[in-house]
Amino acid sequence: VSRDAEAVAWHDVECGEYTADLALWRDLAGAADGPVVDVGAGTGRVALDLAARGVDVVAVDLEPALLAALGERATAGGVSVRTELGDARRGVGVAPGTAALVLAPMQFVQILGGRRGRAAFLRCAAAALRPGGRLAMAMAGALDAFAPGDGPLPRPDVLERDGVRYVSQPVAIAVEPCVTKIERLRRMEAAGARTRTSRDVIALDQTSAADLVREGSAAGLVPEPVREIPATDDHVGSVVVVLRKPED
Ligand SMILES: C[S@@+](CC[C@H](N)C(=O)[O-])C[C@H]1O[C@@H](n2cnc3c(N)ncnc32)[C@H](O)[C@@H]1O
Repeated sequence: VSRDAEAVAWHDVECGEYTADLALWRDLAGAADGPVVDVGAGTGRVALDLAARGVDVVAVDLEPALLAALGERATAGGVSVRTELGDARRGVGVAPGTAALVLAPMQFVQILGGRRGRAAFLRCAAAALRPGGRLAMAMAGALDAFAPGDGPLPRPDVLERDGVRYVSQPVAIAVEPCVTKIERLRRMEAAGARTRTSRDVIALDQTSAADLVREGSAAGLVPEPVREIPATDDHVGSVVVVLRKPED
């Protein structure tokens, strides 16, 4: 398995099955009169869903392998998605003042390197929006800390692809003052091959809806009512902060 195929598979294992947020993104995109930008689009879980509903989507990510997979899936599915490789803290891939909606699904705003990274992203998103356009950012609800040995582990995420079984097992969550660290043990199993294991840790910045509203207002955006994505058996719920660029 190539490194790119592995990166795509782990992304699909750990993000691909989540569907609880799609209704909200469809709703916001349906109300948007113009291009929709999906930042941190990954392999296109949200972008492809919207494109299949006729939404004009631009997908931004800084991982070339993930965006390439997204592009291939769009072509295979007969839908059109423009992909833009880049760091959303430097730009979101559309001309200034043209986006009707910028979406930041899952925990995108919690992996930008803290307040400074978020501020840079918020400035780019605000510049990309047309007057009246919206920015919607999901944030994971509070995660319960656990450590190895604390009891039964959560259900692993599993995917079978091209004869390889990918198993991603959350093994610990550590809630620290500035970040929440989620540790996973990744296992690749294939008939006749040695099982490979590796460890992956994601650090989610601690932030709040109030922080995002304050930081968004510094970028010239005004708050709209917060939306919620309900928890499921496998995922905590999310709060979605919605900000609007005022009309001129
Ligand atoms: C948790 S995944 C979410 C993927 C997808 N949006 C979904 O909901 O299934 C976060 C994605 O953000 C991308 N990413 C992280 N930092 C980024 C940045 N600064 N600019 C653009 N993309 C970024 C990662 O490569 C990854 O694909």
